[in-house]
Amino acid sequence: MRLSASELSRFGEDVGAQLRAPVVIGLSGELGTGKTTLVQAICRGLGAKARATSPTYALVHHYNTGATPVYHVDCYRLRHPDEARDLGLEDMVRERAIILIEWPERAGAWVPPLDRHFRLFYDGDPARRIVEEMAIA
Ligand SMILES: Nc1ncnc2c1ncn2[C@@H]1O[C@H](COP(=O)(O)OP(=O)(O)OP(=O)(O)O)[C@@H](O)[C@H]1O
Ligand SMILES: [Mg+2]
Repeated sequence: MRLSASELSRFGEDVGAQLRAPVVIGLSGELGTGKTTLVQAICRGLGAKARATSPTYALVHHYNTGATPVYHVDCYRLRHPDEARDLGLEDMVRERAIILIEWPERAGAWVPPLDRHFRLFYDGDPARRIVEEMAIA
């Protein structure tokens, strides 16, 4: 799909509205392709009250949407996959949360199995992004 920012938001809101816990979602793509924008839209679709800001300093943001905990994890700043050991991913899986992970490949083997995986690419048109949902092996 080639989506404008508003279309990407709408897409994310639809994905969020249909999500059921437990679920682990990976979001991959170069810097600035729209991973955090997509996470924010998914959280809106889930009915998360707090806005999911880009976790610049904290790597993990937590949102309560009623009964289900929602976590937004950004692995970009991990210098080594083993640093992901301390992110608490196992606990999130254990509590059957909704887990949204930017740059999952940077966490190596510490990433729980992804149920869905989105990949974003720059388009020739700077106002659009290509969004693909990857097949899960
Ligand atoms: N079609 C589009 N979809 C999403 N974002 C777009 C689009 N067109 C332009 N943008 C802009 O691209 C930027 C995407 O930033 P965002 O923080 O979501 O990217 P990111 O992939 O999370 O980056 P990072 O790897 O740094 O975390 C925003 O400034 C947004 O306004
Ligand atoms: Mg981001």
